Amino acid sequence: MNNIKIKMKNITKVFEIDNMETHALRGLDLTIYDGDYISISGPSGCGKSTLLSILGLLDMPSSGTYHIEGDDVSQLSLAQSARIRANKIGFIFQQFNLIDELTVFENIALPLRYSEKQYSESEIKQKVKKCLDSVEMSHRTNHYPHLLSGGQQQRIAIARSLVADPAILLVDEPTGNLDSKNGDAIMDMLENLNNQGTTICLVTHDPRYADRAKSQYHLLDGRIEMVKSMLEAV
Ligand SMILES: Nc1ncnc2c1ncn2[C@@H]1O[C@H](COP(=O)(O)OP(=O)(O)OP(=O)(O)O)[C@@H](O)[C@H]1O
Ligand SMILES: [Mg+2]
Repeated sequence: MNNIKIKMKNITKVFEIDNMETHALRGLDLTIYDGDYISISGPSGCGKSTLLSILGLLDMPSSGTYHIEGDDVSQLSLAQSARIRANKIGFIFQQFNLIDELTVFENIALPLRYSEKQYSESEIKQKVKKCLDSVEMSHRTNHYPHLLSGGQQQRIAIARSLVADPAILLVDEPTGNLDSKNGDAIMDMLENLNNQGTTICLVTHDPRYADRAKSQYHLLDGRIEMVKSMLEAV
């Protein structure tokens, strides 16, 4: 039996603006196992980004419980959630969000420099190199991001998301700014990372990409439904 990385029970999220309530999530249960690669798809407005924000501790649920690696993270202060986010969660977004004034090396090193763990310079070098190798971008270590192609920039963003060994990688429409060739290459890379043990949660509109995940979920009107699971030993 695989270990549980993420467990959400009966999660709701209600947004209230000008006395109008929007029920974005309506009692959602989700368990993500170590080593799984799940995709979440569904129509616009069904709650995908809301769910990803809560998974990534960028927002809190209105009710329900949420555990990451056994720790209750349902209701945290901003400081607590920032700390857990830095230690446990890797993000990949449609926008690459690289810092143009920093080299590729420094962009990837950033999460380690902000980490509460005190990494030595040689540890930082070693970790950055390993991540650059895994996205086949070692030959661009000292370049600045704006000199790279979109596909290469997304690979650097992936390396940065991995450098602090997150418990889970949250990925939101990673190919949205890429042509299909580069998009496919990024999807191949996610698959490779998962084969090497990284647990991944992907939100995508694209059924071809959703299909490549081991476990597939549909989100509709704030409720989630599993449509396929190929994870062994679950
Ligand atoms: N900060 C907010 N304040 C108020 N309502 C919000 C907020 N964020 C999301 N919503 C509402 O919650 C519902 C779910 O939105 P969400 O962004 O999660 O959808 P989505 O599935 O990501 O859509 P898309 O595919 O278009 O990105 C929508 O009705 C949206 O208008
Ligand atoms: Mg969205």
